[in-house]
Amino acid sequence: MSRSAAFDLLPGSDKNDVPAGIVQLNRSISRALRRQRGDFQYYDEPAGDPSLRQQIALRAAKRGWQAEVDELCITSGCQQSLFLALMAVCQKGDVVAVEAPGFYGVLQLLEQLGLQVVEIPASAEAGLDVGAFEQTLQRWDIKACVVSPSFATPTGASMPLHARAHLIELAERHDLAIIEDDIYGESGWLVVPDTLKAVDHSNRVIHCSSLSKVLSRDLRLGWISGGRWHDDIVRLKLTSQLASSRFIQRGVADFFADGGYAAYLRRYRQQLQRQRDQLLDLLGTWSVPIRATSPAGGLALWLELPEHVDTIKLYNRALDEGIVITPGELFSMSGKFSNCLRLSFAHPWTRARAEALMRLPSLMA
Ligand SMILES: Cc1ncc(COP(=O)(O)O)c(C=O)c1O
Repeated sequence: MSRSAAFDLLPGSDKNDVPAGIVQLNRSISRALRRQRGDFQYYDEPAGDPSLRQQIALRAAKRGWQAEVDELCITSGCQQSLFLALMAVCQKGDVVAVEAPGFYGVLQLLEQLGLQVVEIPASAEAGLDVGAFEQTLQRWDIKACVVSPSFATPTGASMPLHARAHLIELAERHDLAIIEDDIYGESGWLVVPDTLKAVDHSNRVIHCSSLSKVLSRDLRLGWISGGRWHDDIVRLKLTSQLASSRFIQRGVADFFADGGYAAYLRRYRQQLQRQRDQLLDLLGTWSVPIRATSPAGGLALWLELPEHVDTIKLYNRALDEGIVITPGELFSMSGKFSNCLRLSFAHPWTRARAEALMRLPSLMA
């Protein structure tokens, strides 16, 4: 299967169930659209609407990072932010380090941009192995490292503070860019970790994020803070996109400013925790021996199945039954993780979903 077909969805997620927070968001956007007068004849400034950037800066401050409005640029999602970051830092043929297992969308970007990939092991608990990265830096001339310090996909791991500080120190010593993918950062229900930017004293972290995972994938709204590469990044956004939609940005800024986002997020985090527990409880009834992560944020679990289980084959068998899962091999270029699986708990629990999950072990033979 190709990486572009990767998503996981079990039966039972109902697109018609719209949470109250999303209804409120939609109202904010409608109001912003109604307020629009002659705006439709003009492009917004390339860095994006200042009121939205201000709101993003306020949230960043809660996570240890005093961001200035001028340090932020609005994008059409975290994938675009990652693309702009790699474009600004790398030339074709450069070597980029990524965590393994790690987000397949980054692997696609690296392939597309003609960049070489070095995979650094990441543990299911503590994320990127910074010691292993340090050793790799002795052998390779690495330009950038893409990392998800908070609730990485697929494992849900978060890097401890000492590992974050070590990573920043290596970036300084080896003249690297660290591209932080923080898309799951605000999903944590026990703690919301600080961003890597909070310890970035040398402006080497390019922070990339969006609202796709915690609010809406359909907004296509993200942001980037490019550190020492920021001006180049804003120029790249200008040449590739010109501008972002002004009324969407203003509607979202209002939703943030009137407390709608914070209230929605409080409820959503509790819901995610509940859904994670329901999924773990169900996995506890499986007769197959498994190892499952139990993250305190993010939207998915990482499952290690017995060695003989090939999750690509399982994917095909499950598809015939109407169940879609994400096989482990997609999260690396090396063919590793063939007995692993990412299972999402992003969707509300339903009987159809539980039944589909209970059928999975019988398809593993
Ligand atoms: C870790 C990670 N980064 C980035 C993205 C892309 O997000 P967006 O929808 O904001 O472009 C995703 C989406 O699946 C993701 O899981």
